[in-house]
Amino acid sequence: MIMQKTNSPLRLQKFLSSAGIASRRSAEKMIKEGRVRVNGEVVREMGKKIHPLKDRIEVDNNPVRLPLPKRYFLLYKPRGYLSTVTDPFGRPTVMDLFPPHLQKGLFPVGRLDLDTEGLLLMTNDGELGYLLTHPRFQIEKTYHAWVRGIPSKSELQRLREGFQAGDTTFSPARVALLTTRQDPPEAKLEIVIAEGKKRQVKKMCKAVNHPVIFLKRVSLAFLNLKGLKRGTFRPLKKEEIDKLYQMAQK
Ligand code: URA
Repeated sequence: MIMQKTNSPLRLQKFLSSAGIASRRSAEKMIKEGRVRVNGEVVREMGKKIHPLKDRIEVDNNPVRLPLPKRYFLLYKPRGYLSTVTDPFGRPTVMDLFPPHLQKGLFPVGRLDLDTEGLLLMTNDGELGYLLTHPRFQIEKTYHAWVRGIPSKSELQRLREGFQAGDTTFSPARVALLTTRQDPPEAKLEIVIAEGKKRQVKKMCKAVNHPVIFLKRVSLAFLNLKGLKRGTFRPLKKEEIDKLYQMAQK
């Protein structure tokens, strides 16, 4: 991933090519032709240095900006936050968990329900977001679900084998019974799925008569929540971003 430094001066033709306007050579041609303005003044001088954040650059009277540096975060979403960028009803969204200077262009990759907690990727990289949420890309997601009642062996087997419920087909899943408690009887399941249907885990559990009481996403592919507290995030490491791209492009 190329992180464009936006806070240091650079040559006008380099700025224009970094902004995706033209190749370096065509940018030089545009400058010679008088099509480029810096702070309102036509500039024909080739080596002129400009400051990408302070100077106003226009080509043919259209403003030009450098693309934002790409950002990738792993968030531990708490319950009570919507996985959207804005909410027309003003409810808390995952964006509220980021300081204003990191929010620009950020969006959640996929979604967790309002009452689900756990791992959520946040980025401003539309390409990665698209690749990761495309149905063709079967990324594994691991959930811990507390369910009402204690599922029998055959109910667990049904979840494992995949099944049809109404007009929804659930593909096979890896399911383990992690722990149980009594009064009232409840069980904690680990469910690993590669699909991303809306409310999938809740629908699967409900279909075998064990509705979810509490749901947490504990991992996504090779990423987990280690070291994060609820409501906090960390930037992804370069190797992690590269690995996600590699997985998504297979
Ligand atoms: N499945 C659900 O039912 N809810 C979520 O938030 C995620 C997966």
